[in-house]
Amino acid sequence: MKIMVVGGGGREHAIIKKLKENSSVEEIFALPGNGGIAADATCVDIGAKDIEKIVDFAVNNHIDLAVVAPDDPLVMGAVDALREKGIKTFGPDSKAAIIEGSKAFSKDLMKKYNIPTAAYETFDNIEKALEYVEKCPVPVVVKADGLALGKGVIIAETREQAVDAVNTIMRDRAFGDSGSKVVIEEFLTGPEVSVLSFTDGKTVVPMVSSMDHKRALDGDKGLNTGGMGTVAPNPYYTEEVAEECMQTIFIPTIDAMNREGRTFSGCLYFGLMLTDKGPKVIEYNCRFGDPETQVVLPLLESDLLDIMLSIYDGKLDPYQVKFRDECAACVVMASKGYPVKYEKGFPITMPEDKNIYVAGAALKDGKLVTSGGRVLGVTETAPTLKEAVEKAYETVSKVSFENAYFRKDIGKRALMAGRR
Ligand code: AMP
Ligand code: GLY
Repeated sequence: MKIMVVGGGGREHAIIKKLKENSSVEEIFALPGNGGIAADATCVDIGAKDIEKIVDFAVNNHIDLAVVAPDDPLVMGAVDALREKGIKTFGPDSKAAIIEGSKAFSKDLMKKYNIPTAAYETFDNIEKALEYVEKCPVPVVVKADGLALGKGVIIAETREQAVDAVNTIMRDRAFGDSGSKVVIEEFLTGPEVSVLSFTDGKTVVPMVSSMDHKRALDGDKGLNTGGMGTVAPNPYYTEEVAEECMQTIFIPTIDAMNREGRTFSGCLYFGLMLTDKGPKVIEYNCRFGDPETQVVLPLLESDLLDIMLSIYDGKLDPYQVKFRDECAACVVMASKGYPVKYEKGFPITMPEDKNIYVAGAALKDGKLVTSGGRVLGVTETAPTLKEAVEKAYETVSKVSFENAYFRKDIGKRALMAGRR
């Protein structure tokens, strides 16, 4: 089979490596991929948002399965466009991808179908939003409605910060047009859990749970990033919590999307907070998480290609999805200064026989050099989380590039809470 994966980060590298385990895969194209992905796929210089070119490429190259991984093309309708030309495609169409594309949509959906989430108000008028934050309890969370690279969320500890947040998003448009509307919601506390799930719109099968580390610095300090590391499984996500989430969140969400005429097919990501009033949804993503995928897929025992094809056919069977009873840890190695300002272009040396997912690197004269904020995700698996974390840091110590920065405490919180 000829496969095309749209995207070019660590998540896409993990998807490609997993797909390659199926012996019927002849060739994988990555659009655009990156210098590290080039070791596992044929990279094609077409951007992930260039839908017209993506479709042309798929048609001209007789692609048997397309996988659209990033949020932007999903929300923009890449899946709709590919399917229109008869290309089998894994991922939600734009009608379903709105579950991530608009926070106002997802909040209204949860309210309508009684899916637990933080209380909220939506505003498209800045004066009304400002009036609201003058009175609401603080801390409060201010979110840009649309896609904002995971950065459009401001937690305001004080009233002044809440006013600033509304102005930053709605007046200054710090996150572009995604700030034409804001969702202002109740501040929740509790451990966060990421649960990626496979669904064909009828059956929903959660994958192994994971924990992201979103802040740039050790001790969960510093700015929010795309994710500095992950571990799986998440020790807070016990079997009882999983069952409760299945009944109160996962199945109701799939049903709600069907009833809205927006059947979701693909990978649906539930960002959850385990509050003292039970699990609540913090966010939905219409895709595999990054860097969650880099710990979840290495633990997947089943064949990813088979699962994706079953989902396309609407025949997902829960028995088809098995995870190894092991643990995984991924340490993201970034360029110093990320997520704000950083230098790039530094040569990378790294061991070849390890599970290293390349997120931001390019080939220059045949050599891998840094080209992004997040450069690599170093993943190791082991019977216990402690071993997985130790092994991951051991591998990190064998990688080098100038200005490398990584958190030293990935997995620490999970180990303190942990069962094994
Ligand atoms: P989001 O992009 O919606 O996942 O938000 C980014 C991060 O902001 C989340 O991972 C949480 O840590 C935090 N966050 C979002 N919403 C809330 C909330 N209602 N209460 C507390 N923290 C939140
Ligand atoms: N790691 C969070 C996300 O993919 O949005």
